[in-house]
Amino acid sequence: MSDADGTLSGQVAIVTGASSGLGRIMALGLADAGCAVVAAARREDELETTADRIAERGGRAAVVPVDVRERGHGDALVARAREIFGRLDGVVLNAGVATGAPAEEEDLDAFADVLNVNVTAQMELASAAARAMIDAGHGGWMIAMSSILGRRAATGMGLAAYTASKGAIEQLVRELGRQWAGQGIRVNGLAPGYFPTPMNAPMVEQPGRLEGMLARIPLGRAGTEEDITGAAVFLASDAAGYITGHTLAVDGGMSAW
Ligand SMILES: NC(=O)c1ccc[n+]([C@@H]2O[C@H](COP(=O)([O-])OP(=O)(O)OC[C@H]3O[C@@H](n4cnc5c(N)ncnc54)[C@H](OP(=O)(O)O)[C@@H]3O)[C@@H](O)[C@H]2O)c1
Repeated sequence: MSDADGTLSGQVAIVTGASSGLGRIMALGLADAGCAVVAAARREDELETTADRIAERGGRAAVVPVDVRERGHGDALVARAREIFGRLDGVVLNAGVATGAPAEEEDLDAFADVLNVNVTAQMELASAAARAMIDAGHGGWMIAMSSILGRRAATGMGLAAYTASKGAIEQLVRELGRQWAGQGIRVNGLAPGYFPTPMNAPMVEQPGRLEGMLARIPLGRAGTEEDITGAAVFLASDAAGYITGHTLAVDGGMSAW
């Protein structure tokens, strides 16, 4: 392991959207902290790359290709995690899409698809994982991905479905944190600001867009791998043992003003 610290030693977590971007980075970070990772998304080759990188660092990972829009994927993923690694301690509800159009031209099927991937699928896996954790009697942790756009409007990007979905995630985090606190399951969220990934690459290619965004970040820079893994491992760990129902902004101060 590159930065092995054993914070999550012996634990097992499912990370959705682990084929790319923040999901891959968080999967690596959790594995570095000693957690075995079930990497889930649609693209098997990219999941294998994530798993190979974890193995190279001395961690444990398994690949489970899945489309989170398919009903039943939650129970199937949980069953695979328990089959492969014998238990389930955590889930990172990270798979997400950000398509959209000006609201007056919004295609409602496309709108519903974003809500399906970004909210309903997260609810399905959270629910399946909670059943397994309650059944095992050892509690657990969940981290759901919100966004700075769960807290404020996007500027001229036609992202009504995305912003609505991330607002819903923040409320789901509160509600599920409240519902499962008695069973020792902590549910928290991360609200990233700007981290360069394939999701936002087309947006920052637009002239002036990157400069405009950086100008709105008080710390004056984009988020790094360390920034997101530090926050994810913290929320997964016992150091966050008294935190539930909370979404943590990881945005360089962007949402502070
Ligand atoms: N990057 C940022 O600055 C930022 C800021 C705020 C919030 N976020 C949130 O962070 C999360 C990750 O975003 P990212 O920036 O890392 O984007 P990304 O690189 O585009 O990754 C998105 C991930 O979601 C997976 N996914 C999408 N649809 C799926 C489906 N139907 N079934 C299974 N997996 C699916 C993709 O895998 P496959 O294509 O292989 O299925 C991919 O691994 C998202 O929830 C996003 O909203 C990102």
